[in-house]
Amino acid sequence: MPTSPKKSLLEVQFPIGQLSLESYLERDARTGKILNSLGKWWGTKPIVLTRSVILGSLFEASEDPERWPDDLEIFLKLLCFDNAGMWKRRNEGLKEISSRPPWPRFAELCLLQADSEERDLFKDGGVDTSDIRWRPRLNEEELARKEALEKRVFYGLGHEAQRRYCKRMEEVDGPPPESWQEINAYCGTQASSLQDWVAEMSQRRYGRMIKVGDAFSGMGSIPFAAAELGCDVFASDLNPVASLLTWGALNIIAGEPEFHAEVLAAQEKIYQEIDHWYLQEGLETSEEGWRATLYFYCVEITVPEWDGWKIPLSGTWQLLKSSKTQPWVELIPDEETKSFRFKVNYGGDGFADSNKGSKVGPDVVCPQSLWDLLHVQGKTANTSRTIPLNSLIENHGGLRPWEKSDFMPRPSDFYGERLYAIRWEKPLPKGKKKNIFREPREFDLKVEAQTEQLISKHLSDWQKEGWIPDWRIQEGVKTRELIRTRGWTHWHHLFTPRQLLMAATYSQRIQEIASRTRPSMALNLGQLTNYSAKLCRWDSTGNSAKEVFYNQAYNTLLNFIGRGWKMMENPVNPHHFSRKGEGSHSNTMTDARVLNSCCDLWITDPPYADAVIYEELSEFFLAWYKPHLKACFPNRYTDSKREMAVKGDDASFRISMSECYSNLTCNMPDNGLQVLMFTHKDTDVWEDLALIMWSAGLQVKQVWSIATETPGAGIRVGNYVQATYNMILRKRPSDAPMGFVDLVIPQIKTRVEEVILHMRDSQIQSGGLNCGYTDTDYLLAAQAVAAEVVTGFSSIDGIDLEEELRTPNKQRGNSVLKDMMNQAKRTAVDFLVPLGLEEHLRRSPDGTSAYQFWRNLSPEEKFLLKSLELEAGGVSKIGAFQDLGRAYGIADYEDLLGPVVANEARSQLPSEFPRADLARWEDLPANERTHFPHSVTRHLYHALKMLAEGADADRAVKHLVDSTNFWSERQGKHLVILAYLYQTTEANQAWQDLRPLLQTLRLAVENHRA
Ligand SMILES: C[S@@+](CC[C@H](N)C(=O)[O-])C[C@H]1O[C@@H](n2cnc3c(N)ncnc32)[C@H](O)[C@@H]1O
Repeated sequence: MPTSPKKSLLEVQFPIGQLSLESYLERDARTGKILNSLGKWWGTKPIVLTRSVILGSLFEASEDPERWPDDLEIFLKLLCFDNAGMWKRRNEGLKEISSRPPWPRFAELCLLQADSEERDLFKDGGVDTSDIRWRPRLNEEELARKEALEKRVFYGLGHEAQRRYCKRMEEVDGPPPESWQEINAYCGTQASSLQDWVAEMSQRRYGRMIKVGDAFSGMGSIPFAAAELGCDVFASDLNPVASLLTWGALNIIAGEPEFHAEVLAAQEKIYQEIDHWYLQEGLETSEEGWRATLYFYCVEITVPEWDGWKIPLSGTWQLLKSSKTQPWVELIPDEETKSFRFKVNYGGDGFADSNKGSKVGPDVVCPQSLWDLLHVQGKTANTSRTIPLNSLIENHGGLRPWEKSDFMPRPSDFYGERLYAIRWEKPLPKGKKKNIFREPREFDLKVEAQTEQLISKHLSDWQKEGWIPDWRIQEGVKTRELIRTRGWTHWHHLFTPRQLLMAATYSQRIQEIASRTRPSMALNLGQLTNYSAKLCRWDSTGNSAKEVFYNQAYNTLLNFIGRGWKMMENPVNPHHFSRKGEGSHSNTMTDARVLNSCCDLWITDPPYADAVIYEELSEFFLAWYKPHLKACFPNRYTDSKREMAVKGDDASFRISMSECYSNLTCNMPDNGLQVLMFTHKDTDVWEDLALIMWSAGLQVKQVWSIATETPGAGIRVGNYVQATYNMILRKRPSDAPMGFVDLVIPQIKTRVEEVILHMRDSQIQSGGLNCGYTDTDYLLAAQAVAAEVVTGFSSIDGIDLEEELRTPNKQRGNSVLKDMMNQAKRTAVDFLVPLGLEEHLRRSPDGTSAYQFWRNLSPEEKFLLKSLELEAGGVSKIGAFQDLGRAYGIADYEDLLGPVVANEARSQLPSEFPRADLARWEDLPANERTHFPHSVTRHLYHALKMLAEGADADRAVKHLVDSTNFWSERQGKHLVILAYLYQTTEANQAWQDLRPLLQTLRLAVENHRA
């Protein structure tokens, strides 16, 4: 059967504005993410992005560019980004999504547009604008009118505003029927579902169902999105944890509903059985029969300087910071044991004081009650109330490395561990319950000792069986912290005896179940350990317990939380979604360098040059999974294969990536496509990527930059996002031309300009600040574009591919490729004119293009003017200014910043600059005139400083006349920059005193006569 040679839409256009918004919101969603129930992995890609990539790869681009807008319109229908699709995606009752800033309620928007009859539909006719809501109990006819009004209002909103009242795209099953009519008419298909459409278009392009592959599958989001669309899927990852998660995505969530039901039933049964066992044994029950939900532990150290007292450490003794009940822990000195007893109190005078813990910053602080006691005993004269923790560790002789047989600290260890509070669930009449915080009582401590004895008795046997890990912690970048900060040398050291008992009981129990569902129970065991280890933190402000991997590191803690079995219901008995996929799928565990499975479309998201150390983080889980993985997948390895993981950013990274991608290129037909997803800020990685793809025989066809990730938390105005670059790659034809540097560079320049403009347009479309790109994003995109041009050539004079790959970074120096990338960056920098400045230039009389004007400024001027644009957008993080400094290649950009405070960064004010260079313009050598010290911006800043210090306007202008090319440039430069400064500092607090002076200076410059 002939297959379609047409270009795919993905090679021509992509709705990056809408997709950025969708991807961003998918990542930001707090609940309901489809794969989250499976477990923990890092850097998963948004499903909406993969889905769009697959559909875009199958959508045939029209040959006539005139029809491209029509292509896009239909493609948007396919993605449910058009009015009808968005209407289908609307939330129940058009409820606004939870996000910041809070959006207006939809009823409020409707009232604004309601005619006099429609106002009837509102409570009290909508008169009370403080409480706008629909009238209750509308009859059928009224409901119909209400829906008509809602639809009219909704269709009148832009995409971004509509999205505030909609579900994620993957939460609906595809376009509504009316869209299918249009899609089918345009594409020549007969589909009524996305799966039908994918099947028909696959047939047309490949003569069969498309096979989508992911060689770095991680959590499995890419294979899952492909399976959901009905594609045949190949998924693989080097890491057994990733492979197990991908298994879950494909078999539990995208698998048969019967299997899904079997899994849910099995996990429920186990959960209940263990619950019953806990109740029977009374291991989490108080004397009164209450059930424990949380255990609060802290470390304890002996301080010789304080008469050998044992000091429990915590940053605060408040258990809940913002609750009415105000529970807190009182430390009561016990002279007999030279240690403290704990007493939980509620509220009272001591609550505020209890916020001060015994560990403040790097120091241990003697609790007041003990300090008073020592004082009375005359033991405080030669010691201080605060002692650095590190010096205490040092004086103790360091930390003892724990042995395999250890499962709790020994009495002579520097760090001991103590249980200082328990949260109980007290039953109340009518099935109600109440949380009670209480210090552990004698009875509770006996139960605690019982669990310790159980572990002591069984540790060795259970380690042999594998129910408790016996693996040594292999030292690495991340794991080193465990050894260094606690002396923990084996994975089971990260758990209290109670936690070990819980995990071992679960692990032992799941070995008995059918092997079909056992991998899914192993995933639950992973969830259990992530939620029940000594690295779980209590957030007393948010009243919530955190998991081990709330970030990508092993953070050891001074006080930590243990969960009772009742609190483990979500982790071990999760509600998995069920979304059956139609196609076939295979899931293997392979090094991408050697996999062997031909795919039409590879969508890959490789490790990002050390952004996440997957292999080390996964070992936490693997230590527990081992017996189950061996039983379920007998032919597979169970370790993290650290040595084979793609990592680093030096020659070894380039070589391993090149080997992986060469192999993928071999495993794809000539008409196949690859999409490489990459999220990284370091601009050097891009040069490497170009090299890697080029050496792998691939040609970059397009690069789409989608804003997917927030470096901080959540959407905040002005909180800039991180982009995922989607490189669209095809096999480079065997007859690709040879390139010559002199011809390649102009091509790069033209393409960079096109792409930057496209990104800026999309940013405007998607609502500006919420999906803003930083200048670094533009620079990275520019480099990606350079990659696009370069990889189209079979070779370029002066570039030795092998040598570039293999030469270590330190010895690489300046290569031809690097020059080309820098050229691309320069073009981009020249192009990034602040929007406000562009506006003023348009008004300026001498017709200079914004681009020319900007290009002629010095890097420091660009930095200052751009910084003010950032500040106007609410940006105050130092990182954003660092990015700018890097983008403009200014080594000492900090000299251009005001006082550096992490989250209150801003550019330097005129008054903060040192005195300017007062050389006269005419006397300056020509080559110095373009330098920052003699630039217009610099001298305008100086003139403002003069005004601020009391000089009159004439003197300030005279300074400009002397030091700048005033008579030639006043209209086209001085006045443009002054107007820009005035406009862009409107809401800038730091500039408020200067703004009247800006006006004064502007008038004086404008009216000055010789
Ligand atoms: C960025 S993650 C992929 C995340 C994934 N796209 C998702 O949505 O969850 C990169 C993956 O590459 C895997 N990896 C590292 N080296 C590899 C190799 N040599 N072969 C195959 N996979 C490898 C890591 O285990 C990790 O899961």
